[in-house]
Amino acid sequence: METVWLNGKFLPAAEATVPVLDRGFIFGDGVYEVVPVFGSHIVRLEEHLRRLRRSLEAIYMESPYSDAEWGAVIDGLLERNPCGRDRSVYLHVTRGVAPREHVIRNPLAPTVFGMCTPIPERIYDKGLGVITHADIRWQYCDIKAISLLPGVLLRETARRADGSAEAILLRDGLVTEGAASNVFVVHAGGVRTPAKSHHLLPGVTRDLVVELLLGADMGCSEGSISEAELRAADEVWLTSSTMGIAPVTRLDGKPVGDGRPGRVWHAADRVYQEYKHRVGAGTAGGPALTRALR
Ligand code: PDD
Repeated sequence: METVWLNGKFLPAAEATVPVLDRGFIFGDGVYEVVPVFGSHIVRLEEHLRRLRRSLEAIYMESPYSDAEWGAVIDGLLERNPCGRDRSVYLHVTRGVAPREHVIRNPLAPTVFGMCTPIPERIYDKGLGVITHADIRWQYCDIKAISLLPGVLLRETARRADGSAEAILLRDGLVTEGAASNVFVVHAGGVRTPAKSHHLLPGVTRDLVVELLLGADMGCSEGSISEAELRAADEVWLTSSTMGIAPVTRLDGKPVGDGRPGRVWHAADRVYQEYKHRVGAGTAGGPALTRALR
């Protein structure tokens, strides 16, 4: 059975319980991270832990653990949940248990939870369908908050519309991101992704893809993308830790480009798959990129 981490202990998932007055349960008052693991190597651990610290600071919490302690939790989860596939480690911190009142009465003991899940194999030969939708979320989308009802409803709206996999979100006529992914577009061979702001999560995969594209001399710019540019794009991609780079071939029921994964996506995905291979083999670079398991 799956082994999880809860408040200082590894234990079977079925035995891991949280009090009903946990502010995560009552208010969705907490933050999380999803860290991909290729082979036995953790991808960009420092970047994920930095984003977790930033999310915690933004909600007036300190990290309950040092980076070394988080590393030990992740190592422990990976060791206890072998599966022979790529995996993601989910880390979740809530403000802890307190009488139900909105104001924060410090200090509380945070609830810290972690689990490890296989990443399903993704075959993108047909690409994904997406819808566009108004960005109905709040103004702090750079915080990786556990209160995900807007994201859940947006993905469900996409599924109910026409079986689409994602909703690309528009705020003030500009693309922000997907409900749980970042967005790239290609125009005449040039790749572009929205610049970072409070309106989108600074995706670790987004940054990695920008870096890989620049490293491969494929170019990539960061800046605003209008709804018109999205609709006129030759290619649209989504990125996340669990999706990698996914080509979008249908936007609001209409084909993107010729309706098949595009030439630039193929080239970018090749570079990304090579990177994954290097990570899996432990040769992707120094500690800022990956950390080998013991
Ligand atoms: N979500 N934007 C949003 C709103 C996200 O939820 C995610 C990832 C991303 C991509 O970030 P990254 O490249 O660091 O995974 C962008 C994760 C995978 C999730 O909620 O499961």
